[in-house]
Amino acid sequence: MKPIRKAVLPVAGFGTRVLPATKTIPKEMLPVFDRPAIQYVVDEAIAAGIEHFVFVTGRNKGAIEDYFDTAYELETSLKAKNKTAILEEVQKTCPVAGSMSFVRQQAPLGLGHAIWCARDIVGDEPFAILLPDVLVQAAPSCLAQMVEAYQETGSNIIAVEPVPEAEVDKYGVIDPAERNGNRIRMNGMVEKPPVADAPSNLAITGRYILQGKIFDYLADQAAGAGGEIQLTDAMARLMANEDFYAVEYDGQSYDCGSKLGYLRAQIAYALADAEHGAGARALLDSEFSKA
Ligand code: G1P
Repeated sequence: MKPIRKAVLPVAGFGTRVLPATKTIPKEMLPVFDRPAIQYVVDEAIAAGIEHFVFVTGRNKGAIEDYFDTAYELETSLKAKNKTAILEEVQKTCPVAGSMSFVRQQAPLGLGHAIWCARDIVGDEPFAILLPDVLVQAAPSCLAQMVEAYQETGSNIIAVEPVPEAEVDKYGVIDPAERNGNRIRMNGMVEKPPVADAPSNLAITGRYILQGKIFDYLADQAAGAGGEIQLTDAMARLMANEDFYAVEYDGQSYDCGSKLGYLRAQIAYALADAEHGAGARALLDSEFSKA
């Protein structure tokens, strides 16, 4: 069984739902407490054994590439001032040389198209996809839980979680067949179904482990929900020919795609911070609790 070495991170989106914050800053670079959102997603992937990251970018996303590079002037200045702890924090953001690739999606044709743009870099091996809009607090990391399921099944895996029934039309939703622990065999999946037609309230979380074969389906995938080429539609076709499981992971997700979801993530990650969590709690209780 081939190990999961590569992860694709689609980061080409405009971040329309969090404008104007994203007018000049990629949404993935907005801070969630003390680091850009993308750092949490990369850390989750590294914790699951990922060795190579493929970023599918677009215009005005250069800050992401720069963030994962050495910052010589900054480091020299920190060194000269003996700010060792901060220097170490900064250096930790620089990955192993050659472990990140960047490819552009020139037009916003949908998530499926974005993933297809990574096909040559991924090649013919199973790989992970992490949508950086979604942050997940979990131990082991969400992707690590999925890798475990992959190692047991050698199949395709998606992470799912229950969402309120009224909100299923915001997600890809699975049609569950049978359940074995947290692993669910599926009859199918559908992208953003009308609430009345949804096959369940189990939504796709934004974490995937897929076989390279998915690229064949993405190559001729017709536009679906929202007029976009949908990854969910290509996965539904792949499922007809290959083993596919959903894993109801153990953890908590935060959707940074909306302003309130983003605020919720800010608060959760501040509260979880080893150094500042207690301070954040005191601040919330003293200044922002209901009278
Ligand atoms: C994407 C996927 C959807 C998934 C969601 C998770 O939708 O297409 O299947 O449930 O991410 O956040 P988007 O939020 O990009 O519209």
